[in-house]
Amino acid sequence: ATRPVTIAITGAGGQIGYALAFRIAAGDLLGPETRVRLRLLEIPQGVRAAEGTALELEDGAFPLLEAVDVTTDAERGFDGVEHALLVGAKPRGPGMTRADLLGDNAAIFVAQGAALNAAADDAVRITVVGNPANTNALIASAHAPDIPASRFSALTRLDHNRGLAQLANAVDARVDELDGFAVWGNHSASMFPDVSRTTARGDRVTGILGARLGGPDGVREWLVDTFIPRVANRGAEIIEARGSSSAASAANATIDHVRDWSLGSTGTTSAAVRSDGAYGIPAGVFASFPVHAIDGEWVVQEGFEPDAFARDRIDASAAELVAERDAVRALGLL
Ligand code: NAI
Repeated sequence: ATRPVTIAITGAGGQIGYALAFRIAAGDLLGPETRVRLRLLEIPQGVRAAEGTALELEDGAFPLLEAVDVTTDAERGFDGVEHALLVGAKPRGPGMTRADLLGDNAAIFVAQGAALNAAADDAVRITVVGNPANTNALIASAHAPDIPASRFSALTRLDHNRGLAQLANAVDARVDELDGFAVWGNHSASMFPDVSRTTARGDRVTGILGARLGGPDGVREWLVDTFIPRVANRGAEIIEARGSSSAASAANATIDHVRDWSLGSTGTTSAAVRSDGAYGIPAGVFASFPVHAIDGEWVVQEGFEPDAFARDRIDASAAELVAERDAVRALGLL
């Protein structure tokens, strides 16, 4: 067997952490050949829950799971890790503004960036899930000067998977028959799910939908009134139905993201990576792009040609990312 891989999960005592740890222990992240060591990182209020998760992981008797350590010390938690899944974040409480949320979370990701810089393996890949995920990735990366910015990415795969599933339903295809779908921008209600390059079994979905909805105007109306809001508001729909926020699907998307990043993607997917200015998205912010993964690197896909409709939405979401960055700068944390 190959050598074991050490993986840190922050916020491991929370909902997503609970779902994620079991999927990783079962081998869903790096395949059935790779043994894993888990580091469960929490703050003092969450540490008992993480210890409970560790007990249950033991009871799973997972053949691939070599060790589980629970800690509140970020440098210990990140020591030698090849993957860091930054899930832990402070949720918005009653009376908190978006600026309060940004400030509290910025402080967390300043500290975690510095701890990763000091302790992680040279090959570390860092996936930010905790919100505001894109800006948290920017902050952590800025405080980890020895780790290339390309080793940080933020999760927009849940939005991607939500869009893919809705689109597959709409064109009567299976999700694995679709390609070329992507989500742009921020992981927020402003994200833009782009169907313009998507094919189903090789045919453009805009053509398939147009034939059913009376041409391009019908497709546009469906996108604006049905598809985009359904994807954007899916989180609220889940809370309404389940009584708590999406956890298993968020963990599943995290697995998809990290697995593709490490082992390679089949076709187009979505991830938030540091913009180099591609597609007019201001350089430096972490924005979701159409990407594929090759040799452990996210590569922004070329050949998308956003039309005026897409351009407006991509620009609006990018402007939100710039505003978040500027708000963190104003706090002196960037
Ligand atoms: P949760 O509240 O159940 O768990 C969060 C855990 O993080 C808590 O146990 C808390 O003690 C811990 N934590 C807080 N600060 C920490 C720190 N500095 N170090 C280590 N642990 C810390 O929340 P849940 O449902 O698991 O969600 C986690 C985050 O993921 C939230 O920010 C949520 O908004 C975000 N999220 C992001 C998605 C995405 O697509 N990017 C999708 C769904 C959720």
